[in-house]
Amino acid sequence: MPSLRFAAPVEERVALVTGGANGIGRACAVRFAEAGRHVAIADVDVDSSGVKETLSQIESFGRRGLCVAMDVTSEQSVQSGVARVMENFGRIDILVCAAGVFGREAPFLEQTAEQFDRVMKINVYGAYHAHQAVLPLMIERGWGRCVTFSSGARFGNPNQVPYAVSKAAVHTLVQSLGAAHPRQGVFVNGVEPSRSLTQMVIPRFSAEHLANPGNPIGRYSDPEEVADVVEFLCSERNTYTSGAIWPVKGG
Ligand SMILES: NC(=O)c1ccc[n+]([C@@H]2O[C@H](COP(=O)([O-])OP(=O)(O)OC[C@H]3O[C@@H](n4cnc5c(N)ncnc54)[C@H](O)[C@@H]3O)[C@@H](O)[C@H]2O)c1
Repeated sequence: MPSLRFAAPVEERVALVTGGANGIGRACAVRFAEAGRHVAIADVDVDSSGVKETLSQIESFGRRGLCVAMDVTSEQSVQSGVARVMENFGRIDILVCAAGVFGREAPFLEQTAEQFDRVMKINVYGAYHAHQAVLPLMIERGWGRCVTFSSGARFGNPNQVPYAVSKAAVHTLVQSLGAAHPRQGVFVNGVEPSRSLTQMVIPRFSAEHLANPGNPIGRYSDPEEVADVVEFLCSERNTYTSGAIWPVKGG
């Protein structure tokens, strides 16, 4: 039998989604609201029409929504964004780190250390700072669920070295943190999407390729299909998975 701590009132739970203004993060924010969570989205992009639309979608499910300006590369910005969420909601039970960039696609010898640094700061330090800020709040309550996004690029790609290295680091961060606090009720997992139709992906491919990517299922995914898996990993239904990287790759 699962511990009674997993039966805490679902309707009170609050999710924080970094990178929640667009793409997969935005789909997660809406999916969480549909599942009964209040949702804070945190992003550098806080003024777009997409943010307003996301907040109104959250509210259409009868949940409270909040958008906070946050640059995940800055520990101080993450700490103050988390403090604002705490002022507004009083708790954070779910963390999704969807803030990410692909960086420049070019052979290694044409890349610069600055390009490498930027990708690492957003993709790796961003998740690091967010977990540092939020895990203590979850441990205190005895319940928490976190998801960060890895990528198949972690196996190595000569034209995507910064992105590939950053996603390998995310993979190891998730495995390390996933083993750290499950006995305190806090599970940390990763999701590895491939070919989800977002602005990180769409501009890089021809219409022909987008229509037929050549993966086993024969199509790209909608961000909502990735968000469904994230919602499960961050739910009370997940009673036994921590430190895993779940593939959502169409095959
Ligand atoms: N789309 C895919 O097929 C795919 C595949 C593998 C992994 N991923 C990963 O999933 C995650 C989400 O990707 P997506 O496709 O939704 O991308 P996206 O570009 O649509 O969204 C990324 C979001 O991150 C925000 N962001 C960027 N820098 C930030 C910063 N410094 N601080 C705060 N927010 C910042 C952007 O404003 C944007 O809202 C990323 O980590 C990405 O690497 C995506």
